[in-house]
Amino acid sequence: DAGVRWHRVQNAAALPGEACRRIRNAASDAIRQRGRFLIVLAGGDTPREVYAMLRSVDTDWSRWQVYFGDERCLPDDDAGRNSRMAAQAWLDHVPIPHDQVLVPPAEQGAAIAASAYARTLRDVGEFDLVLLGLGEDGHTAGLFPGRDLGVAAEAPDVLPVLDAPKPPSQRVSMSARRLSRTRAVLFLVAGASKRHAVRQWRLGNDIPARSIRPESGVDVVIQASLLCV
Ligand code: 6PG
Repeated sequence: DAGVRWHRVQNAAALPGEACRRIRNAASDAIRQRGRFLIVLAGGDTPREVYAMLRSVDTDWSRWQVYFGDERCLPDDDAGRNSRMAAQAWLDHVPIPHDQVLVPPAEQGAAIAASAYARTLRDVGEFDLVLLGLGEDGHTAGLFPGRDLGVAAEAPDVLPVLDAPKPPSQRVSMSARRLSRTRAVLFLVAGASKRHAVRQWRLGNDIPARSIRPESGVDVVIQASLLCV
């Protein structure tokens, strides 16, 4: 893939520092050039340490606008919620105005949350940075193999996911098309369990992560050993 730039880090422990540096740079560029920084967060475990490091970044938090690429349909205080993880690790500790952290109302179920979140995104243009993880099966956000990834031009901004193979089965996810409408994408990949998915990606096999195709290409910060064949 011409559009994929792999950035090796020595080990999983080095990933948060490299990711935080890239996020901080993207934020300062966006704020300097356009007065604000629109970032879409990834869920799961990998970003937790990245979010914790962002607490100490020197930035004008009032310029940040935070969205979620996907959210699990669980009660809003459930530890499994991506928004709760980000809040506990980072967002509850910095002065981003509450109305600038846009959380999908996923506790209301996939269908209601998807249409509500799509309305939230209607007046939002191109993101500045989209953070994404990589699942063992090659999924990213809530876009799973064999399911609708929302890549078509007419695909909705947000998809209800009713049959995710990884619990909880109900989620909401931005579509591949909407996640690709961004100036930059940063995948964060670590953990031996991701080796197979990375190999599929590099072989050009059609895993959902490859459906994220912004004009600028994608950057992947990855534990170096996962790129050794
Ligand atoms: C989710 C995430 C998902 C995640 C991958 C990797 O809600 O599950 O958004 O797409 O990024 O599953 O998860 P880990 O970082 O925990 O390996």
